[in-house]
Formats: sequence, C-alpha cells, structure tokens
Amino acid sequence: MRIVTNSSAETEALGERIASRLTGGEVLALFGPMGMGKTAFTRGLAHGLGVKGEVSSPTFALVHEHAGKIPLYHFDMYRVASWDDLYSTGFFDYLESNGVLVIEWSENIEGALPETAVRIVVSPGEMEDQRIFEIEGLEL
Ligand SMILES: Nc1ncnc2c1ncn2[C@@H]1O[C@H](COP(=O)(O)OP(=O)(O)OP(=O)(O)O)[C@@H](O)[C@H]1O
Ligand SMILES: [Mg+2]
Repeated sequence: MRIVTNSSAETEALGERIASRLTGGEVLALFGPMGMGKTAFTRGLAHGLGVKGEVSSPTFALVHEHAGKIPLYHFDMYRVASWDDLYSTGFFDYLESNGVLVIEWSENIEGALPETAVRIVVSPGEMEDQRIFEIEGLEL
C-alpha cells in the first residue's frame, strides 16, 4: 500500500489510522532517512493508541515507553551498531510483550526484525513537504 502525505499533520493522521488497526503485539519497522517524518508518524500512532504524554525521538534513551490503551514502545536505532547494543535496549524483551513496537532506523537492525513485522518505508515526494509511505504487511 502506498500513501502520500503533504504535511506533518497528514503524516500524524496516517499514524492514527494505523493505530486503529492494531491490537497489540505488532512490530512496525520504519525505514527512511532523517527528517522523513518517522517521529511525526509515531506521534499520530501514539495519539491513536490513547497515549497522553509527549512523543519525541528517543535518540539518547534508545527507547521510550508510553502507556496507552495498548502500551507503545518507541525505539530509535540510529546509534545501534551491534547485537550487544540491540540487546542493551531491551528490544528482545519488548518483542515478547503484548505492546506495539515502533522502530525508527530499522535499517540498523534489519537482521533482528521478526518476519511478521509491518514494514514502512518513507521517502521524499516531489514537493518539499511531501512524503511517500510504502506499507507492507498491514491493510487500512
Ligand atoms: N509530509 C510530512 N510528513 C512528516 N513530516 C513532514 C512532512 N512535511 C514536512 N515535514 C517536516 O519534516 C520533519 C520531520 O521530522 P521528524 O522528526 O518526524 O523526522 P524523522 O524521520 O523522525 O527524523 P530522524 O531520523 O532525525 O529521527 C518535521 O520538521 C516536519 O515538519
Ligand atoms: Mg525521529
């Protein structure tokens, strides 16, 4: 499925629509370079899951936990360069939980992603504020 957004707000709305399809236990693997709206998408996702707090990039913490109707675990794998790094984020423990995992910079942990992961590749569109979301493994 291919979805084009034309603003950060539209990307958040897409995240919210996707949240309405989730029941817990899903892994959403986000791919795409800096500034593509991965965090914006996650903000909408969080809102849709009933998360109350702020959503920011977990660049230093590597993972942020958000309580919602379904717990949301938000990873940023930008700095993850080895299996040891990945273990230390608690990724494998979170995989066993019934929460939703959303993973920025999935490029860096490709080999550790479950086969069932929903893959979301974000790329720039023709216009400055345009983003193209290619979503595999989930229907809207
Ligand atoms: N269609 C769009 N969707 C999302 N963000 C957009 C869009 N158009 C413009 N933007 C802008 O692009 C930026 C996206 O920032 P965001 O932090 O969500 O990116 P990111 O992919 O998480 O980057 P990083 O890899 O650094 O974490 C914001 O400044 C936002 O305003
Ligand atoms: Mg981000």
